[in-house]
Amino acid sequence: MAAGVVIAGAGQAGFQAAFSLRTEGYAGPITLVGEEAGLPYQRPPLSKGCLHGKQELDEIDLRPAAFYEKQNITLRMGERILAIDRDARRVYLADGEGLEYEYLLLATGASNRRLAGPGALYLRTRQEAAMLLTELEAAERLVVVGGGFIGLEVAAAATALERKVTVVEPQERLMQRAVGPIISEYFRAMHVGHGVEFVFGEGCTEIDDDGAVRLTNGAVLPADMVVAGIGVTPRAELAVAAGLSVANGIVVDEYLRTADERIYAIGDCASFPSRFAGGMARLESVQNAVDQARCFAEAVCGRPRPYDAVPWFWTDQFEAKLQMVGISQGFDCEVTRGDIGAGKFSVCYFREGRLIAIDSVNRPADHLAGRKLIAHGGTTVTPEQAADVEFDLKAAAQYLV
Ligand code: APR
Repeated sequence: MAAGVVIAGAGQAGFQAAFSLRTEGYAGPITLVGEEAGLPYQRPPLSKGCLHGKQELDEIDLRPAAFYEKQNITLRMGERILAIDRDARRVYLADGEGLEYEYLLLATGASNRRLAGPGALYLRTRQEAAMLLTELEAAERLVVVGGGFIGLEVAAAATALERKVTVVEPQERLMQRAVGPIISEYFRAMHVGHGVEFVFGEGCTEIDDDGAVRLTNGAVLPADMVVAGIGVTPRAELAVAAGLSVANGIVVDEYLRTADERIYAIGDCASFPSRFAGGMARLESVQNAVDQARCFAEAVCGRPRPYDAVPWFWTDQFEAKLQMVGISQGFDCEVTRGDIGAGKFSVCYFREGRLIAIDSVNRPADHLAGRKLIAHGGTTVTPEQAADVEFDLKAAAQYLV
């Protein structure tokens, strides 16, 4: 059989790459290798719809089995690539079987950081979500370790189910990695308003045998259930072993290609040059996975183009849908737009006079306009205009393509 494209990782990025290769006209073999058993699935519902009981865990497959047959995509689920032989252009599966490739795509994602010792639940896979849902049935008091996206989505869902929730966050504010202080404070107050308690400035050192959470200041929080969402580590071990460069992710160029012209990396595991970040970036989002997968497929089909999509992301917590576009880190000016008290507002971030990011709470139109404005360099809107709700951001973005 001719060597085709082998994709390591069947998450959103790996799946989309296989799909886009076919829509771009790639006719060779495509093999999608995924460590988890079952069909490739969407992860966002695990901490959103499924936790709220609005979606079932068996309803989140990206496509049914028939799709892969029809598209002639070979699924190797429940299997793992253990090594890459770059000279022979071959990967080896755990059972020793070798698969030749014309191109190899590393879409290996990220793994959850873990607390030392047992006792906490985590949320990344369908299986972990099932465990979390089961434990939640019997639990009354929850401690959530980490006030990032996962921790807060779990806190909101558990509170909606009338559980008592305490969130422990070692930083001084919530979602610090991704949003500015105004948004952090809005979400803190909203969670408190729903009954969530917070401990800031303290981390979790370990979980006692009785399930209580021990904090860095010596305090102990009783809990029937502990969920930790303390960030992720990119999965780059295959790349490291193959001698490829790794620095907070697998290093790729603007075409998403490693130093080996036959090996690309995309999604959560890849570190790529981004004008939005002003340097190398590694992004953990569906948008980034999907857009990079398309870019990869075009490159394989002989139409390479530099990856340049504007980053965006979202989270749902209680009554707030937070949509983020751009990268706000390094802003030197921020303005709010809309009514914070009414729970419908955006924070627009500027650097050196250019709009670099917008975080929108229940203002989807600002978010959509922001995608265009920021992709275009953010030069067509001033802070004064952005702060004025009478100023039509959508109209300002309308003629930008
Ligand atoms: N104890 C408590 N909190 C901790 C600890 C610790 N020992 N270590 C880190 N934290 C906190 C961080 O300060 C941060 O606020 O955990 C939070 C982690 O937040 P994120 O980086 O947003 O990661 P997480 O919430 O785990 O989300 C992981 O899931 O939704 C996706 O794309 C999202 O990639 C993200 C992933």
